[in-house]
Amino acid sequence: MVNAKRLPMARGLGKTERIDAWWKSPLAMSIYLGIAVIYASWRGFMEADFWIFEGFGASACENWDVAKTLDDVSVCQTMAIESEGSHVLSPLYSPLIFPKSDLVPKMFWWMSPAMFILIIPAGFRGTCYYYRKAYYRSFMANPAACAVSTPFGDYNGERRLFLFQNLHRYFMYLAVAYLFILSFDVYLATQFHEGNSDSFGISVGTLVLAINVLLLSGYTLGCHSFRHMVGGIKDQFGGGVGKTAEACWKACTGLNKHHNKWAIFSLFWVMFSDFYVYMCTSGVWTDIVLMGGL
Ligand code: FES
Repeated sequence: MVNAKRLPMARGLGKTERIDAWWKSPLAMSIYLGIAVIYASWRGFMEADFWIFEGFGASACENWDVAKTLDDVSVCQTMAIESEGSHVLSPLYSPLIFPKSDLVPKMFWWMSPAMFILIIPAGFRGTCYYYRKAYYRSFMANPAACAVSTPFGDYNGERRLFLFQNLHRYFMYLAVAYLFILSFDVYLATQFHEGNSDSFGISVGTLVLAINVLLLSGYTLGCHSFRHMVGGIKDQFGGGVGKTAEACWKACTGLNKHHNKWAIFSLFWVMFSDFYVYMCTSGVWTDIVLMGGL
């Protein structure tokens, strides 16, 4: 058994022998993730029945009872654009579950539709290998960077409370299902209705949702757990099914190499997609129809 030797190292919060700008990356990441968390929380709570959001979302709506069904969502909402019969739903609110429906117990009626489903993307990203490194460094400084002293003693791995990180593979299953739901939202955003007439169309909102699915697919299908599921559990690839598994594994590996970039860009685009819907439903922007429509 080899005894581990510790190299001499400066001790104390942020102490290090490094002379490069090691703090830039964790600082930038803490700002980026901080903004994303604050924005998602603000939007997630906006449609809740809180006085604090009076004047913004569902809590300001006098026709809330009418809005219980999806068809009537346009009477009071900031979660979906309903222009010219198209339906562009914010990814933060998809799938749209109205708390004030007969399906949901009354004790949950104060909640926002986003609060029912944000647990899935939040759980998936929160337990992601890449984000773990990012927020351990940015928010806990544990450690803030390689060869930089930690404020709470040495890093000892993910134990005790941190064992919940092992749930990542289960969140991954849900996240894959989520891709189908968001793809269906893109389809809905191409369907324009008025009365009995339906027609195909593409608006800027449709493209925004399509790009969102593309980026989320790159992020989800490059997940370490997904890669392991499609090919990593095998010792070697053989013919037939093995060849297919190998091809999938190679495709996932290609995405996995840039997992950090997919993670950052997809997060940005989810927020932007929601912001786009919010701006359009608030009347600041207009969702321009580029092709077809009514
Ligand atoms: S490791 Fe990042 S999503 Fe699975």
